[in-house]
Amino acid sequence: MANSDPEVNLNLNVRDLRPSATLEINERSNRLREEGRHVYRLGLGQSPFPVPAPVVEQLRVSAHEKDYLPVRGLPALRERIAGYYQRRQGLERHRDDVLVGPGSKELMFILQLVFYGDLVIPTPSWVSYAPQAHIIGRPIRWVPTTAEDGWPLLPRELDGACRDDPGRPRLVVLNYPANPTGQTYSKDSLKELAEVARRYRVILLSDEIYGEIDHQGTHVSIARYYPEGTIVSSGLSKWCGAGGWRLGTFTFPRNLRWLLDSMAVVCSETFTSTSAPIQYAAARAFEGGSEIEQYLFQSRRILRGLGRLLARHLEAAGAYVPAPAGAFYLFPEFAAGSDQLARRGIQTSSQLCEQVLEDTGVAFLPGAAFGRPTGELTGRIAYVDFDGARALVAARRIPAERELDEPFLRTYCEQVTTATDRLCGWLQGGHV
Ligand SMILES: Cc1ncc(COP(=O)(O)O)c(C=O)c1O
Repeated sequence: MANSDPEVNLNLNVRDLRPSATLEINERSNRLREEGRHVYRLGLGQSPFPVPAPVVEQLRVSAHEKDYLPVRGLPALRERIAGYYQRRQGLERHRDDVLVGPGSKELMFILQLVFYGDLVIPTPSWVSYAPQAHIIGRPIRWVPTTAEDGWPLLPRELDGACRDDPGRPRLVVLNYPANPTGQTYSKDSLKELAEVARRYRVILLSDEIYGEIDHQGTHVSIARYYPEGTIVSSGLSKWCGAGGWRLGTFTFPRNLRWLLDSMAVVCSETFTSTSAPIQYAAARAFEGGSEIEQYLFQSRRILRGLGRLLARHLEAAGAYVPAPAGAFYLFPEFAAGSDQLARRGIQTSSQLCEQVLEDTGVAFLPGAAFGRPTGELTGRIAYVDFDGARALVAARRIPAERELDEPFLRTYCEQVTTATDRLCGWLQGGHV
């Protein structure tokens, strides 16, 4: 007989899951706002920039597209995505190598569902990889990284995670530019990682959703060095400012077609196909062109200037924080002030974030949410609380060869710079 208490009937893997840290901090922020307090939102990792105009226009003229589309995605869109990887990364990909879904997050879940193997993830890493593995019941192998190196997955650590049982099926997730650290990899590091991946024949899920907002515009896909085993994940959410449109892409090598085919079966039984008008608009986005290049140039310039400025101020206030190389995140470590923080009753990253929010109104996420030990005083700052449309217009007026200076950033990204001042003031003495 079915139990009448619905909680008791929960899947064992889901029963002990908690709402994501992002949601919790949002709820707390909303409560403070209801009390009339100002909250600086450095918690949610959403692009501050609007969707580029030609892409919005394509969505507008495609609004009448109402039919279900092929499970794997609109052929013209898949063609454009294959062309994009050829153009940007020199990868030989065909439209049949591409799978389109309602967000890359959904595609990652389905990949973990169809692929039987361990999930290997560096720590820190994005909040959802591990809970997805947990829901499905896949073993997780965390691989440590350290702040001193700038949090990269080191080839010897990856080797160490695979060596004991070399033939075991594994899915290794690499994400760069990285959420939560904003760091990326050099070509040499990618080559070394590719060598280890090849040695153990792992499947590499290269999450390159922030690739186009590498701050120098020089993102390199590891698929160049391990083409036969790398699935490249991307989408519209970050570089195109369209997280709410929900469109993600996976691009496979020819010899992993069996995996793509299996995923497509699950896609057909779950989401059926991705929203039709959005797919037409995405085809425009992946086509590229000068207007989109200009948009990306200015987006990178703003994020580069702001990331460096904030890292400098946080360092001066005693945090350890390497300047970011991409995306819109910083992952400071507050270890240097840990004695002083302990005297203020702060021993975990969650306590740190709660106290900072309470005292300064600055919301950011604890390092523990990204797989770091609870007692490590780290946190993720998403430097996105500003009007991206306004900042883009203003940046276009500054000669392209000039870096954006502090007065510019303080004017157009004021919420973020003020929030950082408040956090620095708090770190230096507790008063803001
Ligand atoms: C590293 C990383 N991967 C994947 C995603 C999911 O993106 P999508 O909107 O395509 O589901 C995010 C979103 O925050 C992310 O930060």
